[in-house]
Amino acid sequence: MKILVTGNLPEDITDRIRADYATRIHDLDRPMGRDALLSAVPEVDGLLCMITDRIDAELLDRAPRLKIVANFGVGYNNIDVAAATRHGVMVTNTPGVLTDSTADLAMALLLAVGRRIVESDRHTREGRFQFWAPFHFLGHEVSGTTLGIAGMGRIGQAVARRAKGFGMRVIYHNRNRLPADQEGRLEAHYVEWPALLAESDYLSLHVPLTDETRHLIGPAELAAMKPSAFLINTARGPVVDEAALVDALRSGRIAGAGLDVYENEPELTPGLTDLDNVVLLPHVGSATVATRRRMAAMAVDNLLAGLDGREPPNWVNANDMKARPASGQNT
Ligand code: DGY
Repeated sequence: MKILVTGNLPEDITDRIRADYATRIHDLDRPMGRDALLSAVPEVDGLLCMITDRIDAELLDRAPRLKIVANFGVGYNNIDVAAATRHGVMVTNTPGVLTDSTADLAMALLLAVGRRIVESDRHTREGRFQFWAPFHFLGHEVSGTTLGIAGMGRIGQAVARRAKGFGMRVIYHNRNRLPADQEGRLEAHYVEWPALLAESDYLSLHVPLTDETRHLIGPAELAAMKPSAFLINTARGPVVDEAALVDALRSGRIAGAGLDVYENEPELTPGLTDLDNVVLLPHVGSATVATRRRMAAMAVDNLLAGLDGREPPNWVNANDMKARPASGQNT
């Protein structure tokens, strides 16, 4: 069986695949590219892909041998799961292991934009710190303010736990309200969507990207936020209408934004980089040495389980595949 790994993962971890399978690794530190991927998949039985690889019907049609797509990431909006299911291809992801690092980064963005860390660093670095003054670089309070969390899954809850340590009041909105004991432990209060927009001093997004959440934050939602509020996005770029966000930031409709993800990643909406009231990161929510190693190990576990005929631990289309008669091109 042949395996394709489209990212440069730690060798000691991919050695576990190489031990039993003919393995091709795209070991450059940049995406493999659509054409190279499409021409490689006809031969491939197992694919360990990056979130930058689009796994759609066109690719699946060209991959008759493919049994499993193991995504290196918890978000799998890069994969057409329904098409994979139709083709009899298992899809897996890497939940849990990146929760803490992503929640840490959401807090880092919140603090950075609220307290103007990047702007002040630039000022200091450029030799412009020539005297202390009582009204230089005034930022916004964090302690005692209200953090709104949109999407109260694992990462949203981890952000709530951190915010408690900063003395923030936590409100949240989620498709399903959490059980009362969980809300109690997190000291998080459920509110309806309009109240989340209206009451948050910092609004942090933790929803997956789906048809329902695309442009969840657009002109109307930005207009409903406080002019002093900050938007933090460590989820997926298209959850925010980025052109509307640039307008809102430019006009002072909201106070600022901390972004790790972008609508047309890696491209940025024109105007975004001209603004001082934003902190912009290159999608590094889970980018710590330990987390990326855990993600790699988990993706390999999933891949090997699927190829060995065991149930992959993080099989996202398990129910749909089990319910479906075994008749696809890949079964
Ligand atoms: C994910 O896992 O979905 C992140 O965005 C990439 O690490």
